[in-house]
Amino acid sequence: MTARQLDVASDASVDAVAADVGRVDVLVNVAGWGKIQPFVENDKAFWDKVIAINFYGVVKLTHALLPQMIERRSGRIVNVASDAGRVGSLGETVYAGAKAGVIGFTKSLAREGARHGINVNCVCPGPTDTPLLAAVSEKHREAFQKAIPMRRFGKPHEIADAALFFASSRADYVTGQILSVSGGLTLAG
Ligand SMILES: NC(=O)c1ccc[n+]([C@@H]2O[C@H](COP(=O)([O-])OP(=O)(O)OC[C@H]3O[C@@H](n4cnc5c(N)ncnc54)[C@H](O)[C@@H]3O)[C@@H](O)[C@H]2O)c1
Repeated sequence: MTARQLDVASDASVDAVAADVGRVDVLVNVAGWGKIQPFVENDKAFWDKVIAINFYGVVKLTHALLPQMIERRSGRIVNVASDAGRVGSLGETVYAGAKAGVIGFTKSLAREGARHGINVNCVCPGPTDTPLLAAVSEKHREAFQKAIPMRRFGKPHEIADAALFFASSRADYVTGQILSVSGGLTLAG
């Protein structure tokens, strides 16, 4: 197993990794970043960062690695968006927009990838116990927890399990799907 450092917000970094990473059978686009703040207080630098990491990063890395999957006529792409992109999230307006973009991107690429043997699906975590959530105020954490029918945050491995399902042969006939892993918080149709 090898590990490489990658800045998904940098064209040069994505190109460098794509050029010598070798064979990629499963691409999981999981890098993300956000901060809770009223939209009216956002500035353009904030939007640029949110969109560069959460949306454009997914687009760039996927575009760089897709040709080798098309050539082999096989591949799995799993995008990690957010329930914010399905149902909205107070104080995460541009983040939610970027994640909604990932959802639309997933569905459209699934249509395009099917003829090349490539499945594209999306996991939408609800509030999950990671450093990202630890950075949220105690007030917001409490509000999130109260709203979750299971009354607890997700565990990182529960999100990984959904990605593993999409990456496995159990999902051979599944593409373009959006799966919320959120303890029942969001019941999107
Ligand atoms: N934790 C939650 O409650 C929650 C809820 C919904 C969606 N998500 C999504 O799940 C994914 C994982 O988030 P997490 O909770 O583990 O957050 P996290 O902050 O713990 O981890 C995010 C990871 O993304 C990496 N990253 C950030 N910017 C990057 C860049 N420019 N290039 C490469 N890597 C970069 C960070 O190094 C970090 O490893 C993200 O896409 C996030 O938006 C998380």
